[in-house]
Amino acid sequence: MSGIVFLLLAQGAGAVDLNVDDRPLVYRVTLQKTPSRAIAVGYPNQFNYVVDSTSLTPLYIWTGGFLNLNGELKGRGGNPCSIRGARVELNLSRSPLRFGDPTQEPDNTVFIGYRRQGREAPVFQAEIDGQPIAMRLWSETKNQVTIEYELAEDRQQQVYFSTSGFTREAVTPGQGVTWLADGSALTLPVGKKSFRVTLDLTGRKGLVMKKQKVTGRLLYTQYCSACHSLNGLKMIGPTFKELWGKTKTVLVKGQRVDAEYIKRSVIDPQHDIVDGYALVPMPSFKGILSAKEIDLLVSFIKQNEEQEK
Ligand code: HEC
Repeated sequence: MSGIVFLLLAQGAGAVDLNVDDRPLVYRVTLQKTPSRAIAVGYPNQFNYVVDSTSLTPLYIWTGGFLNLNGELKGRGGNPCSIRGARVELNLSRSPLRFGDPTQEPDNTVFIGYRRQGREAPVFQAEIDGQPIAMRLWSETKNQVTIEYELAEDRQQQVYFSTSGFTREAVTPGQGVTWLADGSALTLPVGKKSFRVTLDLTGRKGLVMKKQKVTGRLLYTQYCSACHSLNGLKMIGPTFKELWGKTKTVLVKGQRVDAEYIKRSVIDPQHDIVDGYALVPMPSFKGILSAKEIDLLVSFIKQNEEQEK
């Protein structure tokens, strides 16, 4: 698709959507049903998560688009914004990384900040009970989340990661990381710096992204509405209002609008150019829309007429 079309479509989708480009985004934002000091991270691979900065607890993840900032732009105090996907709770205990006692939430967590490093996972820095730590979280494989902590080299205290909320099978300890005998937490020997754990989320509620049902209207909104109105308004292309069944003057000859004509317009738009619309060429959707999707669009355009009558 050419740049101009993409721009038009992006505007149609709503300018308040925050998208991740080719490197991770970190965004402090007030989100619905989320503690106020949350930070959202979005990755180019459509994996996103939210971490509670006060306790450095990863809270939930979602896949798909990043954030919708509508709330932030409306009203003075800033209303909560929303995530653009189905939220999957991680259900980790609060502040899962602990020093000294695996069953005790830390007394004191000081959030220092975060570093972004190009395309790498952003790093959150904090002090937990006086111990400096850095945390990264990412996902490379569907249904899996990896958390990695970097610990001080000269650390004296035993460190633990509480796995509560996860079955033993769902936890893959990283190198050097071992289970406590009772299976309630992982630990890493003193002297080792890198504490990694991979958590499997298969079967978690919400994880199976509810696929948006593909309808003709949805396809129209996504692919056609930037140039074709339904209500008679003349845009870059002719309106779809009263299109079905009409005989249109195209540059070559009169063309009756039927399924075949619409299909050809989508795949090979330059085949018939509608009189008066020769200036801006319509892009071809060949390879972008499937035959089935084009059928849905044809029915949508046809039905649009039947409803008008
Ligand atoms: C970038 C703008 C643009 C987009 C996006 C676009 N079109 Fe078009 N379309 C045009 C223009 C301009 C024309 C008139 C020139 C022509 O006939 O090729 C046209 C013509 C048509 C026609 C013939 C209309 C008539 O009055 O005879 C059909 C049917 C059509 N488009 C369907 C679609 C469908 C379906 C989509 C979405 C999948 C779509 N178009 C997306 C610009 C666009």
